[in-house]
Amino acid sequence: MKTYRYRVPTTVHLKEGAIQNLFACFPPLGRRPLIVCGHHSARTTGALEVLLRQMPEAIVFEDVEANPSDTTCERGAAFCRQRGCDWIMGLGGGSPIDAAKAIALLAPHGGLCRDYYAQAPDTALPLVAIPTTAGTGSEVTPYSVLVDTTEKAKRTLRGEMLFPRHAILDPLLTVSMPRAVTIATGLDALSQGMEGLVSRFSTEVGDVLALEVCRLVKQWLPVAVQAPENVEARGQMLHAAMLSGCVIAQSRTTLVHSLGYYYTLEFGIAHGLANALLLAPVFRYNARHAPDKVAALAAALGVRCPATPDAAAGAITRAIHALLGELGVSPAAEDAGVRTDRLPEFAAQIYQDRSRFTTQPGDPNEEDVRQFFLDSAEGA
Ligand SMILES: [Fe+2]
Repeated sequence: MKTYRYRVPTTVHLKEGAIQNLFACFPPLGRRPLIVCGHHSARTTGALEVLLRQMPEAIVFEDVEANPSDTTCERGAAFCRQRGCDWIMGLGGGSPIDAAKAIALLAPHGGLCRDYYAQAPDTALPLVAIPTTAGTGSEVTPYSVLVDTTEKAKRTLRGEMLFPRHAILDPLLTVSMPRAVTIATGLDALSQGMEGLVSRFSTEVGDVLALEVCRLVKQWLPVAVQAPENVEARGQMLHAAMLSGCVIAQSRTTLVHSLGYYYTLEFGIAHGLANALLLAPVFRYNARHAPDKVAALAAALGVRCPATPDAAAGAITRAIHALLGELGVSPAAEDAGVRTDRLPEFAAQIYQDRSRFTTQPGDPNEEDVRQFFLDSAEGA
């Protein structure tokens, strides 16, 4: 019998219009909140205005960029202290929510993000997450993924204190997401579910959720893309994204995310799309080591097959390519701007960093990693 530990302490509130009456969901967590958001979505969705009407005492930090940097979070923490804020609200996509977590950690303790990658203090300011995209699941995870500006690499702060106390999932906040953001973030949820299922740290609870994530994304992501105002589809995708967060909160992500970070940092490809472009190559490899799990994933995505390595590898490739086709996305990373001449260099760098392989099933060597990249570039 496998042993596992499964814990997600965040209270999730899924309700159309939930932010209109926020304190019906939870009482204020302090005297003065800092609302952490980006430049655009918080204002274009009208969400910031709605929150400020209910919390006129709130202070706004709206400098968070896509793929938030350590320096932005350090500035945000100093601002939080200066303005006397004692609780944090992350409003936006994964980037503002991850930045909000880092600020919640740094504001009371001081220091720099890089002081805490290895080990973080076990307290942080209380945090509420309000996603305006459906994909990262950050609203229910204990992770904050940041760009380390010194190393030009993604690094992760992690710890129980980074779990938001509450996650407010309001489908109306996601209806105005641009098509490309809907696709990329939805594919991040898919990738997280799939990776969580095969991770060495997978749990029996998370496995059930992971397959449900695949079913939900297959059914509802194309609907949300074709009919952006379909509130049912938006709610189902918020639900799927939250479930994918519950999965990786325990099992973490695997090589797909590690490789995808290179596509994002080097070629500016959106995080979720970067992952999606690597799924088929990495999961063909995973099929050799966990054919039953990969066959179950393919089935959840609508392609049934026997649980043998070859059958599962073929089925998962067909299932992913079919979904990308339905979304109008080319499976070839070259079409998204990836340059193949850089890929061997990335493979060598990733292979050197053994921490990237902790969760990955099998034991891929440098040549395998290079092949994942090359197959992804070609859309194989
Ligand atoms: Fe992700």
